[in-house]
Amino acid sequence: MSRLIVRPAGRLQGEATIPGDKSITHRAILLAAVAEGPTTIHHYLPADDCLRTLAAVEALGLPVKREATPIPLLRISGGGPTALREADHLLDLGNSGTSLRLLTGLLAGQPFISILTGDVSLRRRPMRRVIEPLRRMGAEIYGWGGGERAPVVVRGRRPLQAIDAELPVASAQLKSALLLAGLFADGTTHVTEPIRSRDHTERLLPQFGAVVTVDGGVDGQPSRIGMTGGQRLRGAEIHIPADLSSAAFVIVAATIVKAAEVRLPAVGVNPTRTGLLDLLGEMGAKITVERRRELSGEPVADLIVRPASLRGVAIGGDRLPAMIDEFPILCVAAAVADGETVVRNAEELRLKESDRIAVMAAELRKFGVAVEELADGIRISGQSGRRLRGAVCQSHGDHRIAMALA
Ligand code: S3P
Repeated sequence: MSRLIVRPAGRLQGEATIPGDKSITHRAILLAAVAEGPTTIHHYLPADDCLRTLAAVEALGLPVKREATPIPLLRISGGGPTALREADHLLDLGNSGTSLRLLTGLLAGQPFISILTGDVSLRRRPMRRVIEPLRRMGAEIYGWGGGERAPVVVRGRRPLQAIDAELPVASAQLKSALLLAGLFADGTTHVTEPIRSRDHTERLLPQFGAVVTVDGGVDGQPSRIGMTGGQRLRGAEIHIPADLSSAAFVIVAATIVKAAEVRLPAVGVNPTRTGLLDLLGEMGAKITVERRRELSGEPVADLIVRPASLRGVAIGGDRLPAMIDEFPILCVAAAVADGETVVRNAEELRLKESDRIAVMAAELRKFGVAVEELADGIRISGQSGRRLRGAVCQSHGDHRIAMALA
């Protein structure tokens, strides 16, 4: 177990270069793997989760070249839709739910056997929601615990059958797994989600030459995505924006530490991800969004953050998917805000790398914050600008918890 000692910062100032987006990196690697011809992925995220997806693609027979200068770059030579081969070992996806779920979808359409597993935390996370619709598409899939969890065994099939899937929860991992399987299906697969989740798969597929239809999804309405099977993807030149979910830690730090001004260049500001920015604005944060532009189908902008006093807010329901990964750092902002913050309808947070509701409640208490854990969320009494007291706390093996507590 590793320990990190963090001392209060006197001042934050300057430019923060944020690593590439994790969700988009996974998707770019997987699409490159089934595309025809070379793909270059600029500014990919060389962190363990994405490296697991990359190692899986290599194990499935695809050569990958990594370069580290001056920004991380990947070159993948795709051999088209029939290039992947049965791996000669288990695919170990570590802590990465996105790798596990998206690969299960992709491999459902590959006519060979794959076994996917991961660490203790990943092997506890729900898989039935992915396995069931893929079975309906014709893949043979088994999961431990009667189909609930990983390890997952996939005997893929080609072609799969297109289905019309209604997702029980807004989950981009589930949606993307079905769209990837849909690439190898006869007919058009439709996926309807109750609230629009991050839409990186829908934005990236056209970069590789595929056509995807998207209906609805505005103002909290359900969104329906259509993916016609048999489309051939072409290798592409992909540029990955900085990850807003990583930037979020710096944004909150620059707001609550007596900082000067912090600039964050070329951060992804896809509206399915910017829930925290909007919410911090309502809490009183001073965040300026400049130079909006597009990078490989994704909106990006430079962010400038200045210190501000925050006030508590109440949130729930349809606002959560756009800030699903920012809950730990939102709790930190709430802990130093003036007044109470309440988050409701957030049950999904108990199914992440850790039970993020229970963990944030327990860890914030160690800093002297008054917190009430709710079945579907949390109630935090802000310290109104008083400093938190130092604490010995635990990340519970969850990277976003570690960053938020730091
Ligand atoms: C992700 C989707 C989200 C998110 C995760 C990354 C993705 O999970 O929490 O960190 O890349 O699709 P769910 O789809 O399970 O909500």
